[in-house]
Amino acid sequence: PQWVILDGDPGLDDAVAWLLAFASPELDILGVTAVHGNVPLPLALRNAGVILALAGERAEGVPYFAGADRPLLRGAITATRMHGDSGLPAEELPDPVRPPEPGHAVDFILRTVRARPGEVTLVCSGPLTNVALAFRLAPDLPALVREVVWMGGSTAQGNRTPAAEFNALADPHAAQIVLGSGARVRMVGLNVTMQCVATPPRVERLRALGSRAGQVCAELLTFYAEAYRRNYGLNGGALHDPLAVAAAIRPELLGWQDLRVDVETQEGLNLGRTVCDLYGVTGQAPNVSVAVTVDDEAFFELLLGRLAALP
Ligand code: BDR
Ligand code: CA
Repeated sequence: PQWVILDGDPGLDDAVAWLLAFASPELDILGVTAVHGNVPLPLALRNAGVILALAGERAEGVPYFAGADRPLLRGAITATRMHGDSGLPAEELPDPVRPPEPGHAVDFILRTVRARPGEVTLVCSGPLTNVALAFRLAPDLPALVREVVWMGGSTAQGNRTPAAEFNALADPHAAQIVLGSGARVRMVGLNVTMQCVATPPRVERLRALGSRAGQVCAELLTFYAEAYRRNYGLNGGALHDPLAVAAAIRPELLGWQDLRVDVETQEGLNLGRTVCDLYGVTGQAPNVSVAVTVDDEAFFELLLGRLAALP
């Protein structure tokens, strides 16, 4: 199996993503690290504990940690408009599996990657603050991670501003640090994730799993669908973060292109934009493997099939 740390800001699509990860035998989850983002850190941390409880035996003994409570330089933004005030808008959720571990997420990332050089994948589904801090604390770390798979950015338009995707905008400096770190980075952005929509029939298939995990995912995605209809005119919520986990499990579900990508860190209209050099006009060497196509059907079947393994 592939050693993985899940880093994110749950968040309801993060929750579905992490459940997919726990349900997948290809991945061995070493730990979970929470970061500010969709909701303030204390809620993201609590939600991490709830997701571990939902994953049941699969998450037994998996530690979880509090990470950064704000971006490197800017003030925190949230996405409660999309994720509800708690980040997990479902009834009858279990309590967190146990309290989080003491110590900081960044220290956990650091020691875990160092313990298995070249073997640990960071699957990131939120702002990249924790990873950027780890890379700054230990400049040798980018070369020691197997890869960073990040749901964030876009080759095209944004969702939080016309130019910027939420995770990129929520800490543009961190994103620029990680993308420019020399680590192997794969970016799963809006240009592919917006094609993977949890339509009503798909939500019903999740509910029909008859399990608690299926029920909770269906409930979360029903809430999410409302927000997506209102804000983006889609017939359901986009499965952003689950697609990043799927990319770690089965990269061949997506088409990839190696590109030069930089994140705009200047204030203004384009703050947080992931500027992708699709035509190679900068002449700069590619630093990111960018997802450019996706097999949406195969992805959803993978998600559904895997979630069926959870209680
Ligand atoms: C990303 O932003 C968050 O709201 C979602 O959880 C996802 O990680 C999509 O832009
Ligand atoms: Ca997220």
